[in-house]
Amino acid sequence: MTDDVLVVHGGTPLEGRIRVRGAKNLVSKAMVAALLGDSPSRLFDVPKIRDVEVVRGLLGLHGVKVTDGDEDGELVFDPSNVESASTDQINVHAGSSRIPILFCGPLLHRLGHAFIPDLGGCHIGPRPIDFHLQALREFGATVDKTPEGLHLSAPNGLHGTKFALPYPSVGATEQVLLTAVMAEGVTELRNAAVEPEIIDLICILQKMGAIIKVHTDRVIEIQGVKKLHGYTHRPIPDRIEAASWAAAALATRGDVEVLGAQQADMMTFLNVFRSVGGEYEVTDARPPKLGDPGQEGGIRFWHPGGELNAVALETDVHPGFMTDWQQPLVVALTQARGLSIVHETVYEQRLGYTEALNTMGANIQVYRDCLGGTPCRFGRRNFKHSAVIAGPSKLHAADLVIPDLRAGFSHLIAALAAEGTSRVYGVDLINRGYEDFEKKLADLGAHVERP
Ligand code: EPZ
Repeated sequence: MTDDVLVVHGGTPLEGRIRVRGAKNLVSKAMVAALLGDSPSRLFDVPKIRDVEVVRGLLGLHGVKVTDGDEDGELVFDPSNVESASTDQINVHAGSSRIPILFCGPLLHRLGHAFIPDLGGCHIGPRPIDFHLQALREFGATVDKTPEGLHLSAPNGLHGTKFALPYPSVGATEQVLLTAVMAEGVTELRNAAVEPEIIDLICILQKMGAIIKVHTDRVIEIQGVKKLHGYTHRPIPDRIEAASWAAAALATRGDVEVLGAQQADMMTFLNVFRSVGGEYEVTDARPPKLGDPGQEGGIRFWHPGGELNAVALETDVHPGFMTDWQQPLVVALTQARGLSIVHETVYEQRLGYTEALNTMGANIQVYRDCLGGTPCRFGRRNFKHSAVIAGPSKLHAADLVIPDLRAGFSHLIAALAAEGTSRVYGVDLINRGYEDFEKKLADLGAHVERP
């Protein structure tokens, strides 16, 4: 445990410029999509994060040759020799990520069977996979649950279906897309998630030869095709990472430019950031031309001085306020004057991290009721899913243990904003989703060190 601790000397505003690359929650799915092609795929701007390594390992086990391309962050996938892997080999990746569940459709298409290990990912509630399995069964797959994992087969092939999700789940929508593109016939998915990462995955599948229509009202129609080829794609930038650094700038009274951040996918976050009292400036990208080197786009976020304002917000599926933006922003809300309300409607248990903030001097109460907005599916179900944050509070240093990825980043921000020296344990977990975060902290002038 000792080498997995970061010592943070807080109280210094973060100032400077960092860059975000391809979105973690798209890149990993794009890698799975490469399995469906009959020729190599090429993905750019892939961040060096643990989730990418897990998917790379799983693809390798299934015969997909993954190599580094010429450009930094470029990966090339050659799926010409897709093969079965042993359950023992696959189980090495058990518990390390939730992405393996998305291998179901592509492996069923390529091999006729699939084994999926026990899943991992962040511990932010039960995170069931019932929608995934229900959808796969609708396509004609047989699912056999065993203690070691899931065994799936499709003895009669996969066939298009009409299916409505009980909730617009990101992963289940991706499951349907990755399965329907090569299933026989037409699939109609209702109540689909339409996050920008999903639209980008649809762009990738379309580049591969898929026929996918995104209708209004969360309806996606997919016409199955017999074969798909490889793609070349530059993914959308990571809007969760961008917002995390924005929140860090606000909480530390700093000024951070996030190169690569894109306004369109962050509109809801930007509205809240401004309401809280943060300032931002968007720089549009300009392609290079003769005599003009061009300009990389990004967004600069800063604390303008003075007091921040309390806000009421509710997390929701796109185009709502992302659940993954919530934890970093709450640290900044501890510095706002008045009572802020956060109603978490995507995950039932995503406020546990506030306890650690309270040990640092924050004043956050969590409630079972749906506060500040419309009632959600967790109301009266005994989940503490609303938080009231009273501020401003002076944060002081503490020893912290990182519980999950986004909560972990919020702990880090709190330590950076607090007076004194904190020790943040389990900090390697942040590498799951934040590329080079220690280098970025150093570039922004943070005083952090490994003991
Ligand atoms: C994706 O998780 C992201 N992960 C999450 O980011 C993100 O928080 C989430 O979408 C919501 O935007 C990846 O993309 C790898 P869901 P996913 O299916 O797909 C319930 C991060 O930190 N549900 O949209 O697993 C579920 O319990 C991570 O980057 C079922 O009930 O999320 C949750 O309450 C954390 N049954 C809700 O739906 C199912 O079969 C939304 O989950 C599936 C989901």
